[in-house]
Amino acid sequence: MIHLAEKKVDFSRLPKHIAIIMDGNGRWAKKRGLPRSAGHVRGADNFRKIVRYCGEIGISYLTVYAFSTENWSRPQDEVNALMNLLSEYLDRAYKELDDRVRVRIIGERDMLSPELIEKVEALEAYTKDRTGMVLNIALSYGARQEIVHATKSLAKRVENGEMKADEITTEMLNECLYTGDQPDPDLIIRPSGEKRISNFMLWQAAYSEFWYSNVLWPSFKPEHLLDAIAEYQGRNRRFGGV
Ligand code: IPE
Ligand code: IPE
Ligand code: MG
Repeated sequence: MIHLAEKKVDFSRLPKHIAIIMDGNGRWAKKRGLPRSAGHVRGADNFRKIVRYCGEIGISYLTVYAFSTENWSRPQDEVNALMNLLSEYLDRAYKELDDRVRVRIIGERDMLSPELIEKVEALEAYTKDRTGMVLNIALSYGARQEIVHATKSLAKRVENGEMKADEITTEMLNECLYTGDQPDPDLIIRPSGEKRISNFMLWQAAYSEFWYSNVLWPSFKPEHLLDAIAEYQGRNRRFGGV
């Protein structure tokens, strides 16, 4: 199956940055009469597989949406189950993760428990000099909150007299985002059938190509990723030009 999809992809022109909204765990579980948490367990396993696969084919930046600022409003037991999975991932990443992958956690870190913050910081520090692939895990992430965070940094510089408000540029605001030193995502993938952005990378997505599918995240396979890349490679990105 994967061989067919592979044939359609030009591996010399891969998107540099792929972002994935890992959606549909709950529906995957419901269809099987399982609790939502079982869907999250399978979703987390699949996340590991897709990260490995992206590294293997040579993707430079991979951003995955793991937990949104709005997801805090879910029932406490579901939030706990998700945080436990993340914590487990952070523990196992030292052994499991390819040793060329640099991990960055993007989002409102203060919202996480002190134990989780400690684990996040330790893994980021441990992987900081790796140059193979950047893996951004969007955790307690909201794009509007990210833009507010960036705006505050610029406002402080104005307040301190370092520059004038009129001197603010798009580049400056971009640099203040969590992904300030990274290229924008070329391709944003959303499984689960939803056709919305759900507060994900609103600024960075200005010229991203979108790919949707009804496949639920735990069932999303490397061949789906290749389908998305193949479709992306067939698109004409004009960036407003002709
Ligand atoms: C994605 O799956 C995981 C998170 C949002 C944390 P969902 O839990 O949103 O699954 P559905 O959308 O209810 O199927
Ligand atoms: C988006 O999925 C967030 C993640 C996948 C982490 P949601 O399930 O929270 O999005 P909505 O509520 O369907 O828009
Ligand atoms: Mg969902």
